[in-house]
Amino acid sequence: MVSCVEHPAGGYRKMFETVEELNEPIPAQITGVIPSWLGGSLLRMGPGLFEVGAEPFHHLFDGQAMLHKFDLKDSRVTYYRKFIRTDAYVRAMTENRVVITEFGTAAYPDPCKNIFSRFFTYFRGIEVTDNCIVNIYPIGEDFYAVTETNFITKVDPDSLETLKKVDLCKYLSVNGVTAHPHIDTDGTVYNIGNCFGKNMSLAYNVIKIPPAQKDKSDPIEKSQVVVQFPSSERLKPSYVHSFGMTDNYFVFVEQPVKINLLKFLSGWSIRGATYMDCFESNETMGTLFHLATKDSESYLSSHKFRTSAFNIFHHINTYEDEGFIVVDLCTWKGHDFVYNYLYLANMREDWDELKKAAMRAPQPEVRRYVLPLDMHREDQGKNLVSLSYTTATAVLHTDGTIWLEPEVLFSAPRQAFEFPQINYSLCRGKKYSFAYGLGLNHFIPDKIVKLNVQTKQTWVWQEEECYPSEPLFVQTPGATEEDDGVLLSIVVRPGAERPSFLLVLDAMKLTELARAECRTVSVQPLNSLLTRDSGSLSSFPPLLSVTLSDSDSGCLFFQNVCLRTRLCASKLDGCLLQCIMFRFDRLAVVTCWTFKENLINVSIPDDIWTTEGSQ
Ligand SMILES: [Fe+2]
Repeated sequence: MVSCVEHPAGGYRKMFETVEELNEPIPAQITGVIPSWLGGSLLRMGPGLFEVGAEPFHHLFDGQAMLHKFDLKDSRVTYYRKFIRTDAYVRAMTENRVVITEFGTAAYPDPCKNIFSRFFTYFRGIEVTDNCIVNIYPIGEDFYAVTETNFITKVDPDSLETLKKVDLCKYLSVNGVTAHPHIDTDGTVYNIGNCFGKNMSLAYNVIKIPPAQKDKSDPIEKSQVVVQFPSSERLKPSYVHSFGMTDNYFVFVEQPVKINLLKFLSGWSIRGATYMDCFESNETMGTLFHLATKDSESYLSSHKFRTSAFNIFHHINTYEDEGFIVVDLCTWKGHDFVYNYLYLANMREDWDELKKAAMRAPQPEVRRYVLPLDMHREDQGKNLVSLSYTTATAVLHTDGTIWLEPEVLFSAPRQAFEFPQINYSLCRGKKYSFAYGLGLNHFIPDKIVKLNVQTKQTWVWQEEECYPSEPLFVQTPGATEEDDGVLLSIVVRPGAERPSFLLVLDAMKLTELARAECRTVSVQPLNSLLTRDSGSLSSFPPLLSVTLSDSDSGCLFFQNVCLRTRLCASKLDGCLLQCIMFRFDRLAVVTCWTFKENLINVSIPDDIWTTEGSQ
């Protein structure tokens, strides 16, 4: 890629300053041309409050959860934001102090209490945070803001109001789940989290939450554990932030960053302990890859994959090809925990100091690992990978383990390709070409990068003193090319008259199509979701790989987009026309697209074939 731009002015600090919520949406000033087909609400989560009273939050993942929304409708754009009314936020604002311990910030007892009540507060235990700063995604017809604990928070995507807090432990055997689930085309949500397994040893459970229910019941009530991965250490599970999923397999990467359970439990009664205090690195285990089948829900214990140590937060994509599973990852080399370098004090350092710290941290690299599904004793010592397009290897050892060496897809000193996105609806679990990511320059996000994972070609969008967020890919209606679409990113531009803007990039060339600038500064959002608006239904891209099981209301997903829909379909001259209607049941619009045979995997019962345009 990638020239290393310097930031001596330190404008990036602006991303880590508290902002106030807005009373109402504010208009944005558009330059350039937003594609007429692009409409809906871009929702992004991130920290918005970095101190309470005189008490600062210390870690990048501690600030209180703020939900941002850009509405795109009829070529107009508005921006709105509100804090999520989590218990952590409400109690902090009520008591004007940090009340619930966050990832790297400890809550202390109320100094106004007498010494006896303070004593018992110490030993009552630390409450688990519900500060849902990390991501937002749909479950059934609802939207949940999430972090990585057992608490998720239902929000209204229109008003941004907080609706209710849900404790997943009431429904599932997990201690918490990641903020990066996979969502099948029918709306089924898969996720992973650690749990207590047999004999009080730790394990990792893959959970499944069904799509919207015909009887309108809450899908979470029908959630279940579908498969369990063992932990390589009995009382020290690895930190897990995401996982891979193909059509037929789950892939779990067990990294050497460990949660010391004993520290964790004792930390519950030690004043000043935080989640960060409970992490440690295993310097000898390397990294393990685990496989489980999706349909039969069984762990493949005979497939023991190992490689050298790295941190892993984000899977890019995972797919099956000719008897192999290809796993593309954003890695950080070594066992030292990358989060140790993400304290706000580090992120707010002068540029030279920030760079020095990044030099000590693990180095980023985008890697491809290839896991053979079939192996035979006589193949010991040989490279089992026969895919023509990769240099990744997998060698079977005499002890039955398979040692993996990766193919490096992208590497540059202190330049990370992170927060990866793909054309999710078209390519999740499929062979693909393009990944889109946020370029981190010594941990500071200062560019958007497109990576061709086959040729390793890169494209970059970068502008002086601009700090973008994760780019979200949205496909052009009727597109036949994988990268025919736009990327959406919220950019912070400190010091400008309009200090933040929604950036719309041509995903093919990574050139700017438009920006919608706001008079208020934004903060650094983490992850995002686009809900499509009824006002631009005619522009929706075709639905791919969707199974239409009935004509009832439901929820469909494509390219990270959730639609509340009612469905009907027509058949005309051998072409399938798909009609999509309704979002939040406010507006019905009928529109049709012709599907190409090779782009569709649709099963439609006869009884929903109706005349064109009917509901
Ligand atoms: Fe993440």
